[in-house]
Amino acid sequence: MGLEYRGRAASVIQFLLAAVLGIWACTESFCVLASDKNLVNHNGGRRKLHDIGSSISIDCGIPEDFSYTDNKTHIIYTSDSKFIDTGINKNISPEFNSEDLQQVLENVRSFPHGKRNCYTLKPPQGKGTIYLIRGYFMYGNYDESGGLPEFDLYVGVNLWDSVKFDNASHVVIKEIIHLPLLDTIHVCLLDTGFGTPFISALELRHFHDSSYRIPSGSLVLYKRFDVGSTTNQIVRYKEDAFDRMWFPYNIPSSVSINTSFPVGSLNENEYKLPSSVMKTAMRPSDANGSLDFEFDTGDPILEFYIYMHFAELESLQRNQHREFSIELNGNTWANSIVPDYLHSITAITNQSVRGTKLRFSIYKTSNSTLPPILNAMEIYLVRDFLQAPTDQEDVNAMMEIKESYRVGKSWQGDPCEPNYWDGLNCSDNGYDSPRIVSLNLASSGLTGKISLSFSKIRTLQYLDLSNNSLTEQVPEFLSRLSKLKTLNLSNNKLSGSIPSSLKERFINGSLLLSVDGNVDCLIDPCKKQKKKRNIVVPVVATLVPSLIIFAALIIFWLCKRKQAPVKVLESINGGLLKSNNQQFTYSDIVSITKNFQSLIGKGGFGMVYHGYLNDGTQVAVKMLSTLSSQSSMQFQNEAQLLMRVHHRNLASIIGYCNEGENMGIIFEYMAYGNLEDYLSDETKEVLNWKERLQIAVDAAQGLEYLHHGCKPPIIHRDVKTANILLNANLDAQIADFGFSRFFPLESVSHSSTTVVGTFGYLDPEYYSCHRLTEKSDVYSFGVVLLQLITGHPAIMKSHNSTHIVEWVRPILSRGDIRDIVDPRLQGNFNTNSVWKAVEIAMACVPFKGTERPTMNLVVMDLKQCLEMENDCKQTWEMESQTLLPADSGSYYMDLETEMGPQPR
Ligand SMILES: *[C@@H]1O[C@H](CO)[C@@H](O)[C@H](O)[C@H]1NC(C)=O
Ligand SMILES: *[C@@H]1O[C@H](CO)[C@@H](O)[C@H](O)[C@H]1NC(C)=O
Ligand SMILES: *[C@@H]1O[C@H](CO)[C@@H](O)[C@H](O)[C@H]1NC(C)=O
Ligand SMILES: *[C@@H]1O[C@H](CO)[C@@H](O)[C@H](O)[C@H]1NC(C)=O
Ligand SMILES: *[C@@H]1O[C@H](CO)[C@@H](O)[C@H](O)[C@H]1NC(C)=O
Ligand SMILES: *[C@@H]1O[C@H](CO)[C@@H](O)[C@H](O)[C@H]1NC(C)=O
Ligand SMILES: *[C@@H]1O[C@H](CO)[C@@H](O)[C@H](O)[C@H]1NC(C)=O
Repeated sequence: MGLEYRGRAASVIQFLLAAVLGIWACTESFCVLASDKNLVNHNGGRRKLHDIGSSISIDCGIPEDFSYTDNKTHIIYTSDSKFIDTGINKNISPEFNSEDLQQVLENVRSFPHGKRNCYTLKPPQGKGTIYLIRGYFMYGNYDESGGLPEFDLYVGVNLWDSVKFDNASHVVIKEIIHLPLLDTIHVCLLDTGFGTPFISALELRHFHDSSYRIPSGSLVLYKRFDVGSTTNQIVRYKEDAFDRMWFPYNIPSSVSINTSFPVGSLNENEYKLPSSVMKTAMRPSDANGSLDFEFDTGDPILEFYIYMHFAELESLQRNQHREFSIELNGNTWANSIVPDYLHSITAITNQSVRGTKLRFSIYKTSNSTLPPILNAMEIYLVRDFLQAPTDQEDVNAMMEIKESYRVGKSWQGDPCEPNYWDGLNCSDNGYDSPRIVSLNLASSGLTGKISLSFSKIRTLQYLDLSNNSLTEQVPEFLSRLSKLKTLNLSNNKLSGSIPSSLKERFINGSLLLSVDGNVDCLIDPCKKQKKKRNIVVPVVATLVPSLIIFAALIIFWLCKRKQAPVKVLESINGGLLKSNNQQFTYSDIVSITKNFQSLIGKGGFGMVYHGYLNDGTQVAVKMLSTLSSQSSMQFQNEAQLLMRVHHRNLASIIGYCNEGENMGIIFEYMAYGNLEDYLSDETKEVLNWKERLQIAVDAAQGLEYLHHGCKPPIIHRDVKTANILLNANLDAQIADFGFSRFFPLESVSHSSTTVVGTFGYLDPEYYSCHRLTEKSDVYSFGVVLLQLITGHPAIMKSHNSTHIVEWVRPILSRGDIRDIVDPRLQGNFNTNSVWKAVEIAMACVPFKGTERPTMNLVVMDLKQCLEMENDCKQTWEMESQTLLPADSGSYYMDLETEMGPQPR
């Protein structure tokens, strides 16, 4: 079978026609009630839904490397030694230990030293997805002091809650539902001066989708009730797939009802409610009455989100009807709820509510013949996490430094928030990410060479590494620290000479440099001095030359100063052009691009020119042609926002120009141009399968960051191979993001009248329904992935202008993967890995956005794909008959059942 496509070609026009007809398929449902039977498909398609295996369960204070299965919950707890390196293990006092006591409460880790001690959790799912974090605390007089401690609990840099006890046997459980901004979550205990902090156990669970997402902030558990429970037991894992804890609750003047029916269908709501919770409910004892109950919050400022879960448990007769409304503090919150027989529905407050009391009344509507019911309820307190953590690159660099030199035992949690680590000073950027500006590691016993990590703290102004045992040369990369004003390397064992770039800065006075007391003298003038010292010269003789040099330097300085006017201007200008995030004038742009001499591309928003900054950095300058109607203020705001978006896989913006009609953006220059050109250019070396996968992973990570790492999320709107740039290492970056509007989190879907995007990559649902969500980018990404796999353009001119998706689909249904894959790969790939990639791509392109995966999921699966390629590379080539690796089953059910991967 050749590659040629012989089926009925679905032309682009047909494709678009289908898209327009698809308007009818767009559902208009977005209301308070989430019935979500239609969500089942896209959630249910993934395996491991009921698996908390990838979550973290820590019993704090048990011996290192110990783990056990709790006999009640069947949860496997491990020791905390891998998550923290401070604190001491303690057992609670024997009189508090009893048969029924949960095993996790028998020991604690206590933190008598240090103001702040942190657990470092690295869940495999990373950031951008929602986690439940739960801490357990029982004092049990473990330190035999008898005094009940009080301390604070932090998630990252933000206060989660305070921990207080009523008595020594009081078990305090704190729970928070949190969307982290970084891949690493720090849970910190802060000593507030009222006793030694300690912790009994710590758990982290992962929610798979958008349930419990709110516009901003995190949700601290206030109440979670299994209403009308007949067992009086707490329900949690395994009945609750997410391991929420449901506490039994009875409403006054009400009776319990239940169903004995098999109730598998009850958990098919996106909240995955446990059947045992949903199969009991309460109704008023008086048939005409209402369900009334209230909670004292005690504080009018606190904000709450409320989730109420309902399921009809009685099989109703024809003349029976159950319908009710909910009032909260006298205002109707939800109207005419009709619970579904043995299916769960959830009512959510669509914004936060306040009040010193939360007074609920659930009453039947006039045409209802049956009283209201309530099956389960959750109330959460909103905690606004305003403070952004320290810049991720700075954090990474500091962690590398901490590890490679084994320093900073007290370095716990975030470097800059809520207080600075010892030896650090950070910039105060309000609620935005702080940056590290000063690092003092003098007399810290550092050995080995100067680590590359220092050069990654780009905002560093002051670096003191004096009085250590650092060896080898002073590395060139320190000159990347363009903001550096002071560098102290004295009293080490460094040799060689200082890099000339640093020397220049020292000589012209922009850098204070101390290098005395090393093996070599590092600076040339001083080298001469050393030679003389070697031949043992009298003190006077060594003094004289250094005095001369000193004098010479002063004269040199004065000379430089004399030339002031011109030079100074130039250097200010130079400084501007060099530093990050700057505004450029139009004349700067003209000089950077040498009057727009070299056009290197045409993008959706304008022309792209090649140019050089004053310091020789190559840049790409995009002049925006179509934004003239947009106010320049708006452009400026957006450019400044975008300059704060930093990610390895997003093209970094160096600066912008905003002078009337002349609006431009200056990007880092990417040597290998864009992926579209690279794929189609016959003269370029063919990208092998692994390189393609890596590019896909890179691009997916960039998008994932825009969607889930940015607040508010950014929809790219124009994802295509032409907007994926490659540097000389073939690392991919997404370009051109964010010129489209930022969209508010609370409106899940968004209507706009003008459709933006590129033909071939345009999400058909967006095109026909004008509703934009981040799933539109997922569609476009699917097309990009297909291009990487097939090597074809999105619209295949060579095949009757067929759209690539329509070309792949019929071949795929014949099950022959080799007809799809780019022939230039000459069969050099792992078939399983290609299959999986095709599956991922096809999962991205259904008509309905809700059926497409999130970018989190795409990244995760592509990484598996890449691993598969790495792992199987050797074995695969040897035994082409190999079965699938155990875990590589497709996550995309419909594809898998139609045609499983078949090694050929
Ligand atoms: C300890 O405090 C808890 C919570 O307030 C309470 O339920 C329990 O009865 C108390 N125990 C004793 C022994 O006082
Ligand atoms: C369900 O309710 C009935 C009374 O309506 C009661 O007899 C029965 O024990 C309950 N079943 C469960 C499992 O609680
Ligand atoms: C409930 O109200 C209806 C109409 O108001 C009345 O006919 C009925 O008797 C009432 N039932 C009870 C139990 O009070
Ligand atoms: C019952 O009445 C409410 C208004 O009170 C109305 O919205 C609803 O559609 C009615 N339901 C039925 C089944 O008639
Ligand atoms: C940190 O830097 C600020 C501003 O440069 C300065 O005022 C402050 O004294 C520094 N703090 C420490 C502890 O060095
Ligand atoms: C240098 O470091 C050592 C410990 O590493 C310390 O004892 C000594 O006082 C330090 N000297 C100076 C001048 O800071
Ligand atoms: C000093 O020299 C460095 C490197 O050549 C240059 O980048 C910097 O602008 C100069 N500073 C001044 C104040 O002349």
